[in-house]
Amino acid sequence: MSNATSTILHIDASARKTDSVTRELTEILVKSLVDKDPAAKVVSRDVSQGLPFLDEEWVGANFTDPVDRSEDQRSKLALSDTLVGELKAADTIVIGTPIYNFSVPAALKAWIDQIARARETFKYTENGPVGLLEGKKAYVLVASGGTKVGSEIDFAATYLKHILGFVGIQDVTIVAADQLMMDPAKRDEALAQTLALAA
Ligand SMILES: Cc1cc2nc3c(=O)[nH]c(=O)nc-3n(C[C@H](O)[C@H](O)[C@H](O)COP(=O)(O)O)c2cc1C
Repeated sequence: MSNATSTILHIDASARKTDSVTRELTEILVKSLVDKDPAAKVVSRDVSQGLPFLDEEWVGANFTDPVDRSEDQRSKLALSDTLVGELKAADTIVIGTPIYNFSVPAALKAWIDQIARARETFKYTENGPVGLLEGKKAYVLVASGGTKVGSEIDFAATYLKHILGFVGIQDVTIVAADQLMMDPAKRDEALAQTLALAA
């Protein structure tokens, strides 16, 4: 058995700091995972306050070979490098996301744009793109008012699962606290499911 400390990357995206179902779920799961592995290191990244959108300079810097990047280009990518570093260092990724307008919050999409980096988290091959992250486990804890997770109008959980797979994270468990406006009991069901995940 390896003695290496495992790292959990805890990402929240809800605009709500109070009464947030997804924050409650991620907190419970992270706590359960740490209870199971007290030596685990937790890195928290709350994206809800927003991350910069990609702009022309960012794209230009990203396309430039790392050895040829100017000082300005390196600083343009500094935040993305940090976020990519957090993802690479994580063994387990716990993402809590509401469904906003049938997709993920813009703040979480901004995080995705910062971490989906050719040569860093995926690469192009003759057979198409290949994810570069290996051996990671992700949990996606999703809440919605009316949209059924996994339905054809869910562009949040399905999308997140796709993008995680795109960067090489194939082992993704989704917990749905969905359609809460129609069935508030689903919150407790999702809490129970989340607790069971780390058991
Ligand atoms: C701006 C906004 C947009 C929303 N859009 C949707 C939606 O498209 N579909 C849906 O089922 N629920 C939608 N909801 C409801 C949230 O997904 C639901 O309240 C969820 O519990 C929010 O997550 P939280 O409890 O972690 O804040 C929206 C809520 C907000 C604030």
